[in-house]
Amino acid sequence: MPCPQCASPLPRDARTCPNCGVDLALIALLAERAYLEGLPEASPFPTTPEAVVPRIGEYLLEQGLLTAEKLETALARQKQMSDRGQRRLLGQTLVEMKLVDRETLDRAVTRQIIELHAALQEANRTLERRVAERTAELRPALERLTELNQIKANLISNVSHELRTPLAHILGYVELLEEGQLGALNEEQLKAVSVIHRGSDRLGRLIEDLIEFSTASRSGVVLKLQPVELPALMRNVIERSSAKAEKAGVRLGLSIPPDLRAAQADSEKLGWILFQLLDNGIKFTPGGGQVVLGGEREGSLVRLKVADTGIGIPPERLEEIFEPLHQLDGSPTRRYGGTGLGLALVKLIVAAHGSQVHVESEPGRGTTLSFLLPAAEPAA
Ligand SMILES: Nc1ncnc2c1ncn2[C@@H]1O[C@H](COP(=O)(O)OP(=O)(O)O)[C@@H](O)[C@H]1O
Ligand SMILES: [Mg+2]
Repeated sequence: MPCPQCASPLPRDARTCPNCGVDLALIALLAERAYLEGLPEASPFPTTPEAVVPRIGEYLLEQGLLTAEKLETALARQKQMSDRGQRRLLGQTLVEMKLVDRETLDRAVTRQIIELHAALQEANRTLERRVAERTAELRPALERLTELNQIKANLISNVSHELRTPLAHILGYVELLEEGQLGALNEEQLKAVSVIHRGSDRLGRLIEDLIEFSTASRSGVVLKLQPVELPALMRNVIERSSAKAEKAGVRLGLSIPPDLRAAQADSEKLGWILFQLLDNGIKFTPGGGQVVLGGEREGSLVRLKVADTGIGIPPERLEEIFEPLHQLDGSPTRRYGGTGLGLALVKLIVAAHGSQVHVESEPGRGTTLSFLLPAAEPAA
């Protein structure tokens, strides 16, 4: 060990430094004192009950255990000590000055802690009561909301059924006009009638979607399960979509491996789902891109999928696409038509088959939607 004063090495049992002659015992004592004085005097966290209950002075006054004068004196003393760098708790000061005896102080502190505890418990009870009251207030609101939802569903269902009849009349007459059965039309009139025809067709599809959706969400999806020959169904869906794809400049692909045969499903609804997925694929794919309808065997299951090279969906919005009457572009200037009902209904129908729709997408690159169904051998 080196000498604390001159740093020259010290022999084992030296009492003075052989080099500078300093008294080693004395220097050790001085060092210890310097170290202790450098330490903070009190812990910054209250550790005694008295420190936890800081308003002890007022409390003692209230209880008549201390006079205002004595409290003043003690506070003045406490300040004096603190100016000298010696922090003292008020209770401690009171006891030291013999203004209050230790026992009284302890009792007062205990009393105050008990009161604090009771106040805390009361606050908790009030809080619990408030929560219960609020919950009770919200219940009727929730019931009302459920009722309103039911009314909305009924309204959609009734209105859409009512819309069917007049639309059937419009379409009937449009066809008569187009066929010239009500007299020959000139070219301009024919063009106008064909615009009416297309508009009415779109309206018709919208109404059918609305009816499908409201029935499905009201009374659940009723399935007619049977073995469905997938290749035939898929070819049919592609055929029905080809006009739209051609118009959009989007190539349609069909991928049917030889082991893809039949699935246990509701044939009509499955066709409808695939048509919806292709419809979206074409709609959200710019000209020059492609949409592929494919299927593959996965053990005792078959996976059906529609993959496009379109605009894609941001990862944080993948869940939104299944919300009813919701479109990612909901702005009044949106470019794509539709009602936002298609995928909500696709989800309901796939769920009724005991499965779920899986989405993979990369913005700007494309989207793939797929789902699994149990494989089935077609009826002989
Ligand atoms: N293949 C897709 N590529 C990009 N976005 C899609 C695709 N399919 C669906 N979406 C998004 O999900 C929304 C909901 O789809 P859907 O329920 O079919 O309604 P709609 O076709 O009437 O807009 C669409 O408006 C679109 O924002
Ligand atoms: Mg759609």
